[in-house]
Amino acid sequence: MAITYNDSERSFKLDTPKSSYVFKISPTGYLLHLYYGAYVPESDLDYLRMRLINASFSASVASPEEKGLSLDTAAIEYPVNGSGDFRVSALSIRGDNGSSVTDIRYASHRIYSGKPRLEGLPATYTNSDDEADTLELTCRDALTGAEVVLVYTVFTKLDAITRSVRVTNCSDKPFDIERIHSMALDFTESDFTLMHLQGRWAKERTLVKRHLQFGLQGIQSKRGSSSHNNNPFIALARDGYTEESGEVYGFSLVYSSNFEACVEVDCMRSTRVVMGINPVDFGWRLEPGESFTSPEVVMVFSAEGVGGMSRTYHKLYRYNLCRGEWKTKKRPIIINNWEGTYFNFDEEKLYAIAKDAAELGIEMLVMDDGWFGVRNSDNCSLGDWYVNENKLKGGLKSLVDRVNSLGLKFGIWFEPEMISPDSDLYRAHPDWCLHVDGRDRSIGRRQYVLDMSRADVRDNIFEQMSAILSSANIEYVKWDFNRNLTEVGSALLPPERQRETAHRYMLGVYELLERLLTAFPHLLLEGCSGGGGRFDAGMLYYSPQIWTSDDTDAMERLEIQYGTTLCYPPSAMSAHVSASPNHQTGRESSFKTRGDVAMAGAFGYELDLTKLNDEERELVKKQVADYHKYYDLIQNGDYYRLINPTEDKANPTCAAAWESVSADKNEVLLTYVVMRTQVSVSRYIRLVGLDPEKIYVDEATGRRYSGALLMNAGLNLTGSWHDGESKVWHLVVSC
Ligand code: DGJ
Repeated sequence: MAITYNDSERSFKLDTPKSSYVFKISPTGYLLHLYYGAYVPESDLDYLRMRLINASFSASVASPEEKGLSLDTAAIEYPVNGSGDFRVSALSIRGDNGSSVTDIRYASHRIYSGKPRLEGLPATYTNSDDEADTLELTCRDALTGAEVVLVYTVFTKLDAITRSVRVTNCSDKPFDIERIHSMALDFTESDFTLMHLQGRWAKERTLVKRHLQFGLQGIQSKRGSSSHNNNPFIALARDGYTEESGEVYGFSLVYSSNFEACVEVDCMRSTRVVMGINPVDFGWRLEPGESFTSPEVVMVFSAEGVGGMSRTYHKLYRYNLCRGEWKTKKRPIIINNWEGTYFNFDEEKLYAIAKDAAELGIEMLVMDDGWFGVRNSDNCSLGDWYVNENKLKGGLKSLVDRVNSLGLKFGIWFEPEMISPDSDLYRAHPDWCLHVDGRDRSIGRRQYVLDMSRADVRDNIFEQMSAILSSANIEYVKWDFNRNLTEVGSALLPPERQRETAHRYMLGVYELLERLLTAFPHLLLEGCSGGGGRFDAGMLYYSPQIWTSDDTDAMERLEIQYGTTLCYPPSAMSAHVSASPNHQTGRESSFKTRGDVAMAGAFGYELDLTKLNDEERELVKKQVADYHKYYDLIQNGDYYRLINPTEDKANPTCAAAWESVSADKNEVLLTYVVMRTQVSVSRYIRLVGLDPEKIYVDEATGRRYSGALLMNAGLNLTGSWHDGESKVWHLVVSC
């Protein structure tokens, strides 16, 4: 078992291959955290307890048995509100006496093989029971009757531990959950750099690093989605870390709505991390017998730097979060018409693109926004999911059959959570959007947000989508979401439950996604939110690939993709070759560079293929061949970030480089992109993760290098490079 309970010490030890996590039960049932870090054999770690008493201003717990234990100064496993721990708390329950003072104590525990599902929520899972062990630790709050179950799952082959919390009302009166974080973790020191992924529309997930300071720091979303602005992922890297060495702790929330990740450094320089649903505007009423389950946080420990942490997330999310046949099945190369035509297309235009696509070896045509209702711009028709036969004159089936007969698969765009004021659906059901009576309804991209907490709304959208999906051979859906939630209220919820709306909305979206995948199990779902505004582990449970950003400029993508890979696998990052000059930035770049950058993710095209010249068509054919040649290496290999485009130490903002290495270390693909040329600078690039003993042959030149040479001296890239030039090396071990 990866989880052990030491009865005499009353301590729990959770071991992954290279990490240990230890906490214990105090004499009166408090849970005291002792250690999380590199693997240690011992389980008796009581001597590590912080014992500082900060004079009379740190209250001691009442019982003399606890020998002066102060919750103000102890490392607490799951801190609650109001009982003497003044740092940020993870749980606050308001009882029927109106008080939010919360006090939970150990009651019992259960250790078992495997991992439970989280009702109604996306979560990591095991493919077989021997992949993980689980501890369910039950605590009770005697006054409110709340039963609080802390759920820990330890993956046995990866350095990952998942956490979630389930609260049940075991009393005969209702109570309100005011805040419930999925995890908390106390460290006895604060010598860490906080990393997070910050951004905006068309510039998502740029890596930000800041050293911890006294007080509160962290990130949040209040937008009703995980957001372009802050991704539900943070890491703490202990001082001295590098990309490939040192201790790094990752925290990733498997959730797609309002979240908070808060790090507090207190007066004793100890650090607390909490992560979960954002308590702002949140509340949940629990009637007797009802339960509430928090989303899951996935904690990863790496002693191999930031890169080691990322590779653990990549493996876990690829094989234990993504589901269905597309988790491992080879993804088709897509041509999406959005940047090629925007709303200006009809059946013949799409067919012409499909014809060229087929000739070039592209495998699927995706028809983007504009095929339904009377939609010719973004001002109408969301919610009216029937075919616009002015554009598709022969109907959807005729188009899909024609595309299929070219040997191409067909995919389609939906924005299921939205409603245009100018739509038949809105005219029939004006109360179906999120709103608060008496308040104006804010508009974003000329649309409102449907109240997905309502079953009747979801039923309607499901029926419409399923009618479309059943009407032709549609094998892919791009699920878009183009504005954030405002006036978050539901017409069906009573006043005391209005603060539940945002979470109920998200549960409703998850339910609809699940229903769709159950009805159409072969569907490949691609997540999207105006690019990567909802690129999170929650969505990956349903859609194994997500549109990374609406910015398709290769140079911009370097930074976006760099940040995205901190937590998410290359297979999740949908990336397309688009036109030059780029539509978002106006920047020109070569067809080759655009291909080399897009090849780092789930590859495709997003331009009008009928406008390509002969040279570009030849390049598409070459890229298609490369895609097939390197698919396994890129998607299943180990991913190494070699040069950070935002923080290139040798020549700031000049270049980016990354590398994929096969599991047996026999094959390497290295990509290098020059962002801004500088003259007269030397450039060497040292490879990572190879076998020092093996001899690698550069496929293009035949030159032979030992792994040791490539890792210690590297390749010499000094020379003349143009702005935006890229190069790819394929190195294979000689037999
Ligand atoms: C936003 C997406 O990110 C784009 O790719 C495209 O699908 C548009 N929406 C369509 O409205």
